Order: sequence, then C-alpha cells, then structure tokens
Amino acid sequence: MDVHHVNLTISAVSASQYPNTQFPEIAFVGRSNVGKSSLTNVLINRNGYARTSSQPGKTQTLNFYNIEDKLFFVDVPGYGYAKTSKANREKWGHMIENYLTQRDQLKGVITLVDGRHAPTSDDVSMHDWLKYYGIDILTVATKMDKIARGKWNKQASVITKTLHLEAMEPLILFSALTRQGKNEIWQWIEGRM
Ligand code: GTP
Ligand code: MG
Repeated sequence: MDVHHVNLTISAVSASQYPNTQFPEIAFVGRSNVGKSSLTNVLINRNGYARTSSQPGKTQTLNFYNIEDKLFFVDVPGYGYAKTSKANREKWGHMIENYLTQRDQLKGVITLVDGRHAPTSDDVSMHDWLKYYGIDILTVATKMDKIARGKWNKQASVITKTLHLEAMEPLILFSALTRQGKNEIWQWIEGRM
C-alpha cells in the first residue's frame, strides 16, 4: 500500500479508549528495542513518526495508527523489559493479553525478533502463546543490515528451529535501514484486510 495519510488516533491505556471502528487492525509485538516502531515507520514511509528510541521500554501504551482510513497499526509495548514496577508490568500484561485475544478487529500479529541472535525464551513463549490462541502470525527478523548476507540463511534456520515455525509459517528478513522485506510485509498485511 502506498501510504500518504497516517494519524496516531489514540495511545490507549484501557480498552474503553480503543477506536470505535471496524477497520482491520494489525499489531506489532516483540521485545523492547527489537525495532517495532522502526518497522512501523518504514511501512508508512515516515521517518520518526512512530517514536523510536535507544531507551528500551519507551512505548508504554497501545498506540493505534490510522492508516489511510483503511486499517490500524497497533504498536504494542515491548515485553521483556524489567525496569518498571511489577504492578505496572502486570497491568500492561493484562491489557495486552485482552487486546490480543478478544479484539475482533485484530486480523494478524507481526512478531519481531532480533535477526542477529537466536530468539530468546520470551520470544518463544510469545510465539507459542499467539499460536495457542489461533492468531495469524507473521514473524519478522529485524536488523538484518547488522549481519553479513552470507549468514542470513543460517540465521533464518536458527529462528525457524527455535520458534518451532512450521513449513507454512512465514518468516521475513527485514532491515529498517535498507528497507529489505518491506514489500513482502505489506503483501502479508494486505492479504488480511
Ligand atoms: P520499544 O518501543 O522500546 O519497545 O522499542 P521498539 O521495538 O519500538 O524499537 P525501536 O524501533 O525504537 O528501535 C530500537 C533501536 O533499534 C533504535 O535505536 C533503532 O534505530 C534501532 N533499529 C531498529 N530497527 C533497526 C534495523 O533494522 N537496523 C538497525 N541497524 N537498527 C535498527
Ligand atoms: Mg517502540
């Protein structure tokens, strides 16, 4: 999709604030700092629209981005970030769980893993959990510009094995710097609208 109009509709802290529309929604999940906001910016062709930061855990709300009045991108707070109170973490956890399991408008979840490393146990739990709930998942390995092209195949198979991806489960190698993978990710999204 060629995106011209994007609007951060709401940074929601509770379900009552979610947009009251029937547009399909695509959520982005992954560990803090993995590159969710950066991927969002590449998909919408806007540098710095979704806030990126070298400080992990910056995104703390469910951010709904209205894309062309056709769909919402939902930037989900990163998991695996400990530098906040336990009560706070639990509160976020419940909101996110409820959103991911109960939101009718949610058509798919893009889960990001760091392409440089094997997925962590948090990544594996998140993937298993989404799968258990029958959620349509696209796995994206980010930061591929940081590893040599000759290692991509090996990395892809490490990710496939560690996350127990099945043959039909898609994995896309992506870089926010080179924008590789952008078109394939859009294709997956458009297939769910
Ligand atoms: P939280 O909102 O804290 O959960 O983080 P996030 O997942 O939104 O990550 P964000 O997009 O803010 O990126 C974190 C850091 O990684 C930033 O410094 C980005 O510039 C960097 N980064 C993200 N994607 C890439 C990439 O593909 N390549 C490189 N080299 N750096 C990236
Ligand atoms: Mg972010």
